[in-house]
Amino acid sequence: MDGNGRWAKLRGKERVYGHFEGVESVRACMETAVEMGIEYLSVYAFSEENWNRPQDEVISLMELMMKSMVGELENFMDHQVRFMVLGNRARLSEGLNATIDRISSATAHNKGTTFILFLSYSGKWDIMQAMKKAAAALTPEQFQQMKQEDLDQYLITAGIPDPDLMIRTSGELRISNYLLWQTAYSEFYFTETLWPDFRKPQFMEALEAYAARDRRYGKVK
Ligand code: IPE
Ligand code: MG
Repeated sequence: MDGNGRWAKLRGKERVYGHFEGVESVRACMETAVEMGIEYLSVYAFSEENWNRPQDEVISLMELMMKSMVGELENFMDHQVRFMVLGNRARLSEGLNATIDRISSATAHNKGTTFILFLSYSGKWDIMQAMKKAAAALTPEQFQQMKQEDLDQYLITAGIPDPDLMIRTSGELRISNYLLWQTAYSEFYFTETLWPDFRKPQFMEALEAYAARDRRYGKVK
């Protein structure tokens, strides 16, 4: 999700208004995912690098995240959405961690779309923590014998399928340390649309573009 700050600036408003409006886009996309029967929808809400933003913006974002997940609980239940947060939870406040646990447990048995908020996440951090976990769990011989797919169970995304489609808004053409390992064969979709303007029609357009792709996974068809 990118372009909240620019969206606000274009309207002569503080960056935080862009983040408020961005929450509306998250809800619209989540409801569209439910409607379309998409099993997993993930959003990259806050990266490990985002901690380096001005303190007041970091605080506003954390408050907004906490308020939004509490505010959406009823909507999650109504839509049978399972809510999860993945990332470096050790860096989040006690209050936010407690809220995350509460909303995750409340929705844990929902059978519909799994909605994942990537919070204090970075792809390199994920790969590092996976390697350390694997090294601690395995003998040196077992560690040496590891196959690529054996790392999956140590990644923070263990048990979750790799993304089929990765969408980035606001015209930036980078992965910015998102799911590096897991997007090895994802289809990428880039759009100039700023995140607060990315709603159901824009999401549907991305899904249509994805449907037209020819996925060969390096093979010849
Ligand atoms: C994305 O919008 C939201 C977060 C990273 C939390 P930005 O805040 O990056 O908006 P721009 O890129 O400055 O427009
Ligand atoms: Mg940005």
